[in-house]
Amino acid sequence: MSLRRLLNWLAALLVLKVTIVVVLKYRDYLPPNFDSDFLQGRESYFFDSYQWAFYPHIAAGPLTLILGLLLINDRVRLRFPKAHRVMGRVQILLVLFVVAPSGFWMAYRAAAGPAAGLGFGLLAFATGLFAFLGWRTAVRRRFAEHRRWMERCFAALCSTVVLRLIAGLANVARVDAAWVDVFAAWGSWLLPLAAFELFRVVRVQSLIQSCVVPRSERASDSDQCSTIPALHPHPGGTSTERNDRLGLRSPPGYRPIHR
Ligand code: HEM
Repeated sequence: MSLRRLLNWLAALLVLKVTIVVVLKYRDYLPPNFDSDFLQGRESYFFDSYQWAFYPHIAAGPLTLILGLLLINDRVRLRFPKAHRVMGRVQILLVLFVVAPSGFWMAYRAAAGPAAGLGFGLLAFATGLFAFLGWRTAVRRRFAEHRRWMERCFAALCSTVVLRLIAGLANVARVDAAWVDVFAAWGSWLLPLAAFELFRVVRVQSLIQSCVVPRSERASDSDQCSTIPALHPHPGGTSTERNDRLGLRSPPGYRPIHR
């Protein structure tokens, strides 16, 4: 198993584990226990509009994480293309019409105050935007872009996992300052998104570089170059068109292998 696959599996297991831990906490919410960590101090407004955002949010949130795991998995997509399309539609609807708007509403009452609320509000907006662009590019059959937007959407949804990791780390380090919660509200989505963009650029650059080196001088003859057109093995478009959509700039000397 390659290091990349191993890391993917570990990340998926982490997402699953956190999702299970989050759902196990729902016994505090059904019925609402106002002595629990999250609901403490919310009794005065919970039964107004808050509950109408809160319950749909906590019902749909874990579903979007599980669906996200299945949707970004290449094997699942290639083996079950119909299921991918159905799950994708459900995911877009859940994100656009449930998780993002309810998160936006709840951001107004963020426990850590307005600075954290602004972070959550922008997260809701960004997640909805990514889902919308993911849907639009899929409909237009621009699959490489579709994939990028949906990966960004999933990275944003994983903010819920990163948020809990940051809280756990702060706990272990015994940092109990107010700024930690504000940092978590922003860092939980900006950090995974930045990591995603960085990883994507480095990966694309290294693939392109390895293709500029003549085949006879490459360390291995496994022909990595052929993976550039195949970065997104969805049907649709020639390899060159797909690379254009990926934003790949071919350096001088680069000749696409599959046409
Ligand atoms: C668009 C992405 C999301 C946004 C903007 C968002 C926003 C929020 C906000 C503002 C709160 C209240 C925080 C506070 O008052 O301090 C919250 C709570 C919560 N969210 Fe989300 N959220 C998102 C995604 C998710 C996902 C994917 C899950 C899946 C597990 C989830 C599960 C929860 C749960 C269970 C709570 C209640 C607190 C807890 O039990 O820890 N959220 N969310």
